[in-house]
Amino acid sequence: MALSLVKNAQDRLSTDHFGRPMRGVEEVGSTNERAAQWAAKGAPEGATVLTEYQTTGRGRHGREWTAEKGRNLLFSVVLRPGLSPDRFGLLTVAAGVAVAEAVETVVSPHSALLKWPNDVLLEDRKTCGILLESSLAPPDADAVVVLGVGLNVNQSDFPASLADTATSLRLAAGRPVPRPPLLAQVLQSLERRYEAVRTGDAASVRAAFRTRLASLGATRTLHAPGTDEALTGTVQGITETGALRLRTADGTVTEVHAGDVTSQN
Ligand code: BTN
Repeated sequence: MALSLVKNAQDRLSTDHFGRPMRGVEEVGSTNERAAQWAAKGAPEGATVLTEYQTTGRGRHGREWTAEKGRNLLFSVVLRPGLSPDRFGLLTVAAGVAVAEAVETVVSPHSALLKWPNDVLLEDRKTCGILLESSLAPPDADAVVVLGVGLNVNQSDFPASLADTATSLRLAAGRPVPRPPLLAQVLQSLERRYEAVRTGDAASVRAAFRTRLASLGATRTLHAPGTDEALTGTVQGITETGALRLRTADGTVTEVHAGDVTSQN
């Protein structure tokens, strides 16, 4: 199934690099891990690994990512951005914008919104998680970034732990969603927003992110990963480099570079 999905998407692909080449594997530990291995052996920018099922799918902050076999889009793209690591936060938000735009073409009139840094939400539930992982490069080499996308497409049942917070395109659209054209569309959109950041037009990405930021102007509590620390404030938007700006009760504006927006007031 993975191979026919790849083949059908490739027939519709209009990208320059993303999804070229694209490998389909029926089952894998994690496509991010497999893509990193491929990158270490010289995979070019845009090389993509797609699977129908992950046994050890990875989420942000060391969490696991689970997805039903054969119903979703689970893939990772090798990037060689040639950017300083302090710009990687922009790649993170660009990926969220790109997937939201592609998703919206399928679920319209529903809007796809974003929860910082890049969860894609439909009707306030998460339909896509995105994980960027970078490997340290020797001084003379550019870092490799692996961009992993877990998009819930046709899954209708979720484990109890996700039942109240997860959704899929199928649930939002009220009909099954063909995956090959969607994959081609997501790759196209990712390439476009990635190129914008890489070539210095991050302003357009930040503007697009802001219009989709679900919590803009609302009060949110942000939890630092792996700690009990929390910060509550009004969401102001994002900084030049993609960090979240929160205004706390005393009027201070704080920039947060990593964390989970896990509760709301
Ligand atoms: C998140 O925590 O929201 C990010 C989830 C990212 C999941 C995707 S599925 C494809 C790729 N391979 C992985 O192991 N993780 C990412």
